[in-house]
Amino acid sequence: MKIALLGMGSVGRGVLEMIAAKDLGITVTGIADSKSGVIDPDGINPARILKAKKKTGLCGNKKISAADVVSKADYDALVEVTPTNATTGEPGLGYIRQALKRKKHVVTSNKGPIALAYKELKTLAAKNGVELRHEATVGGAIPIFHTLEHGLAGNEILAIFGVLNGTCNYILTRMSDEGLTYEQALLEARELGYAEADPTYDVQGIDAAIKLVILANTIWGNGVSLKDVNRTGIDLLTPDALRLAEEEDCTIRLIAEAIPKKGLLRVSPRIIEKNHPLVVDGTLNAITLETDMAKEITLIGKGAGSLETASAIIGDLLFIRDRYVKRP
Ligand code: HSE
Repeated sequence: MKIALLGMGSVGRGVLEMIAAKDLGITVTGIADSKSGVIDPDGINPARILKAKKKTGLCGNKKISAADVVSKADYDALVEVTPTNATTGEPGLGYIRQALKRKKHVVTSNKGPIALAYKELKTLAAKNGVELRHEATVGGAIPIFHTLEHGLAGNEILAIFGVLNGTCNYILTRMSDEGLTYEQALLEARELGYAEADPTYDVQGIDAAIKLVILANTIWGNGVSLKDVNRTGIDLLTPDALRLAEEEDCTIRLIAEAIPKKGLLRVSPRIIEKNHPLVVDGTLNAITLETDMAKEITLIGKGAGSLETASAIIGDLLFIRDRYVKRP
């Protein structure tokens, strides 16, 4: 299976590391970061590109752009892992549209295009007989969409409750367990590559709200958008609030909730008992699904991180390979 990769941030590098380390039957024929690109129909050595990126900050030639890779490289699936822009979805949205029009499968971790244009992109993919998969957009390594699509097929999903932002969860855990200030904990989260390129997305609850919108649209197809989410972040939370919660054997977590029958779509810091299933630590995410047949199911896993998110991307790629593409 041949892929082209757009984006050489934490996720893109994780994908290349795994392709270099494992025998996945995946050949990379195009790669681009925001300033350069490389195209080779015979296959690019992922380890060499990772080394070049580390040394020079570039993955290839400045004369080759991401748009060139999308439109000219020979690939079965585009892996689109550029940073999220929740207002326009660009530049990822344009790249995804272009690849689908070329009848190429698309696998993305980019939340902007999926939150803004899920229905349009799914329709475009179906029209062109290809897949658009977005497992990596929600819950990091948690296979939430595979679970919904396969394991819970036939269930009606009644409600979702979740810890959907690894950075906020990491900050809250470090503040309450280690007594770090909000600023120190955020700095750590950024250094470890968990936070978004613009970390206000994380701490103001925007990232969690985007993920809630993606879940709602994927499950219920109800066409909700970011402005429909009642949102409060953790940026104004004080260490005192955390300490008071601790005194009651509780803690504070940023919880996302969607209950369509009540018209509820909300992200907010909530005081919850420490033994509640959604109280997870560090960059873990937790998603509880309330369903008619399976009743309550909670999935827990790493919500952010390079290899953790690459796991979701590779899972989507291998799904496409097994269903549509023969191994080379
Ligand atoms: N910044 C995001 C988070 C990355 O912390 O959850 C994963 O979507």
